[in-house]
Amino acid sequence: MPRRERRSVVGVEAVGPYTLVRIDRGGLEPGEPGQFFMLEAPGRLLPRPFSLCLAPAGELGFLVDPIGPGTEAIAGVAPGDRVHVLGPLGRGFRLDAPRPLLVGGGIGVAPFPYLSERLGGPPALLGFRTAWHAEVAALVPNAEVVIDPVLVTDAMPDGHDVLACGPEPMLEAVRELAPGAQLAWEAPMACGYGACYGCAVELGGEWKRLCVEGPVLWEAA
Ligand SMILES: Cc1cc2nc3c(=O)[nH]c(=O)nc-3n(C[C@H](O)[C@H](O)[C@H](O)COP(=O)(O)OP(=O)(O)OC[C@H]3O[C@@H](n4cnc5c(N)ncnc54)[C@H](O)[C@@H]3O)c2cc1C
Ligand code: FES
Repeated sequence: MPRRERRSVVGVEAVGPYTLVRIDRGGLEPGEPGQFFMLEAPGRLLPRPFSLCLAPAGELGFLVDPIGPGTEAIAGVAPGDRVHVLGPLGRGFRLDAPRPLLVGGGIGVAPFPYLSERLGGPPALLGFRTAWHAEVAALVPNAEVVIDPVLVTDAMPDGHDVLACGPEPMLEAVRELAPGAQLAWEAPMACGYGACYGCAVELGGEWKRLCVEGPVLWEAA
């Protein structure tokens, strides 16, 4: 069940260009991989959505790509700071895939460390812009890394159940090659629990709130 709690930051580490923020778990549950949490961005009005990256005992870990004011504020927290955390929210990955392959790009690898742990360390194929960005692949066991201009879709083997997260063009390309893939989509989110319709996307002629019906969607969804 989602809860909203004010928790303490217990660790902040740089991983390549990203920042791993570890927060004391308190009464919050980690939920299923691919679900997300709304994190308070200190000094900003609205919280921002983040996938759960790591779930060690007593903690929740979030990988932050500082691309704007909210993510910069979250990446700028220090141990001992207290932030409001709401979650877990949305619908995560199905874990019943017989031959899972994790496919991700850039900050899209954020949910994979926890997903990999829950699936017992399946193979992963991860794509990055530079070797510096690729440092984050160390968080994902059994990962094969490709760097631009090689794309994950150039290296994707057949015969797997694909679970993917990354930029929209990557997800579209993965869907072409693996029509049954589970895809974690993104949209700007203001509330995270279905109230504001800010995250509504049109899929198959129907409007869906990505924070409720997603962020992970698959063919039958
Ligand atoms: C379910 C979900 C899980 C996410 N998990 C992570 C995560 O684990 N780590 C992480 O670093 N980021 C994650 N994000 C993205 C993150 O929430 C956004 O980057 C953040 O909200 C941007 O806020 P900002 O104030 O820093 O930048 P803004 O100024 O709000 O945005 C900077 C630019 O990015 C665009 N943008 C903002 N949010 C999104 C979005 N959600 N989708 C597409 N474009 C967007 C804006 O239009 C703008 O061009 C996730 C998003 C969703 C929806
Ligand atoms: S973020 Fe408010 S309805 Fe989805």
